[in-house]
Amino acid sequence: MTSEIVFHRPNYARALAQQLLQPGPLDQGLSSGVFLSGIRRIGKTTFIRQDFVPALLDHGALVLYVDLWTDRSRPPMTLVQEAVRAAAAELEQPASTLLQKLRRVKGVNFGAGGISLGVQLDGLGTPSGATLSDVFVEIVRKAEGDVVLVIDEVQQAMASQDGQDMLFALKAARDKVNTATDLPGRLLIVGTGSHKSLVTDMATRRSQAFAGAHTASFEPLGKDYVEWFLNRVEAAGLKAPSLQAAFAGFRDMGSRPEELTKAVRQFQDEVAAGRGVDADTVFATICATLTTAAAELDIQSIEDAGELAVLAFSRIAAGQARGLYAAETLASFSESLGREITANDMTPAIEKLVSANLIVRKGHGYFDIADPFVKQVWLRHVQMRQSLIGGHGMQGTEPTLDV
Ligand SMILES: Nc1ncnc2c1ncn2[C@@H]1O[C@H](COP(=O)(O)OP(=O)(O)OP(=O)(O)O)[C@@H](O)[C@H]1O
Ligand SMILES: [Mg+2]
Repeated sequence: MTSEIVFHRPNYARALAQQLLQPGPLDQGLSSGVFLSGIRRIGKTTFIRQDFVPALLDHGALVLYVDLWTDRSRPPMTLVQEAVRAAAAELEQPASTLLQKLRRVKGVNFGAGGISLGVQLDGLGTPSGATLSDVFVEIVRKAEGDVVLVIDEVQQAMASQDGQDMLFALKAARDKVNTATDLPGRLLIVGTGSHKSLVTDMATRRSQAFAGAHTASFEPLGKDYVEWFLNRVEAAGLKAPSLQAAFAGFRDMGSRPEELTKAVRQFQDEVAAGRGVDADTVFATICATLTTAAAELDIQSIEDAGELAVLAFSRIAAGQARGLYAAETLASFSESLGREITANDMTPAIEKLVSANLIVRKGHGYFDIADPFVKQVWLRHVQMRQSLIGGHGMQGTEPTLDV
């Protein structure tokens, strides 16, 4: 049950790759960019790296992959430039697997010496150096086909000016390559993100570089994955619940492989202790307990940010993404906490939420909850608290309950 062993999804990967590289009449918009979104820990990166990138290569595309979360302290532009340099360096190696694969799939003879780009990469991004547009034009020309840039956690680019600049530079590169009449391929940009509303914003807001791009939900792992996993559990001589119970539990836990593994691990203890008589009921209880435990951790991390941060988080979760500094908001927070809250108090509370990745900044003074799953958990938690107190304490008399 090691995490390196992966359940492959070749059909899903092939379908996506085909849609992108051999678009049908209704898929033309995909060349503006494709953004896939899905909640945390459901296997987006695994799918991209293990299945989607290989499927793109099988179709003869050259793929560049960059993960904006590898190191969040590093600017997105730098990460993209590094991916470009790494791809260029690999193409220069005559024996590189990438080049061999391109040779085989496309039947193109790139010459014995590898591909050398006709632009200087040293100064990439500096005022006098090459631009991303120059480089991508050159890569498409030399690799003789489509180039796909896959950006994992693409919404991270919206969080900084550098990231925004990177997106506009990529848009310029895309437009330059895709409108050129003398190039043998296109530049296609695929992004994945954990944050649906931010990713949707990227494709719909006119001010965004990728306005007009195509968005879709990442397909979570399904019953076939659960069956594969249970087979592996049984093959290892361990106890497995029925497929039906396991799949129901898996879905309730957000379709997260790690949670399913945890549940099946706990299930072993229950079985060993002789408590697994009605195995499926036992398994369902384990899943429900794990879901609650995970939710409690999320709630704890919000509460750890402090009482003012909790109020701000609640307000954003309830859909009021703007006006955190407005006079009436400050007055209402002051009333709830029984002390005066000023704009100066708000800034550190908000910074705490941002740095804990609980909220994201969508624009000036405009925020959203970072993880829609955590938002759901929080709203449920608030609702439960309110029903427990029967609506009392909502007028500011019971500060911590006024959320
Ligand atoms: N197809 C799969 N087969 C087996 N395990 C998987 C598969 N997909 C995901 N996992 C496991 O699930 C966990 C989460 O996967 P992954 O990191 O790909 O998800 P993610 O959606 O990219 O997460 P994040 O939101 O943190 O970026 C990992 O432990 C991974 O090994
Ligand atoms: Mg990921």
